Amino acid sequence: MENSAINGKKIAANKAIEYVRNGMTLGLGTGSTAYWAIRGIGDMVKNGLSVRAIATSIQSEELAREMNIPLVPFTEIDHLDITIDGADEVDPAFNLIKGGGGALLREKIVASATRFYIIIVDETKLVKQLGRFPLPVEVAPFGWELTERRLTALGCTLARRMAGDKPFLTDNQHYILDCSFGTIADPPQLHRQVSDITGVMEDGFFINMANIVIAGSPSGGDARVLAKPQ
Ligand code: A5P
Repeated sequence: MENSAINGKKIAANKAIEYVRNGMTLGLGTGSTAYWAIRGIGDMVKNGLSVRAIATSIQSEELAREMNIPLVPFTEIDHLDITIDGADEVDPAFNLIKGGGGALLREKIVASATRFYIIIVDETKLVKQLGRFPLPVEVAPFGWELTERRLTALGCTLARRMAGDKPFLTDNQHYILDCSFGTIADPPQLHRQVSDITGVMEDGFFINMANIVIAGSPSGGDARVLAKPQ
């Protein structure tokens, strides 16, 4: 990755961890932006911060373990105080596309249990309308060809995500279908249509979930904290 892109992500992540307080239960996101937040929280733990966390992927769980961030199962908690996660696109109404890393199902379960959901991005992810980034849709491998046809009927072209010459499998052993709809006029409506399809385990639309979005600029300077539009 280009250094400037890393910069914007790291700046946003460093701002987000300022919201972390002693005693909190945290959700740890997935991806190259969340990576910096997990590392930052790990450094805070090293300096005496007491928190516990749930990770949104095996990859983030491994990083949390490396950083000695205590992990808890859902049996021990009923909510998360803060979750810090990345996104692939953010529109002005805080509709998000997520799932570029394939962790969308776990990410959405964690987000749905979160009181204050912080999205961190480098500012190139802020868009006027969603859709340039293909919408990741996590589907059951059983009958996926049927699910694919039903998704295509909504007006997209799609590709099953691959890992080399094999289908990519999520941490939940599902496939990802990356759906290109072009510019999406009404994300909440399309989200409802996609999630109504049997065989869809979760889609990458995160609607009405983010409380704040923190954007870092690749050229440096302070991160911008954007409040949820009313
Ligand atoms: C993981 O499945 C995704 O939702 C990521 O949060 C998203 O793709 C952003 O990833 P980066 O921070 O790596 O750009």
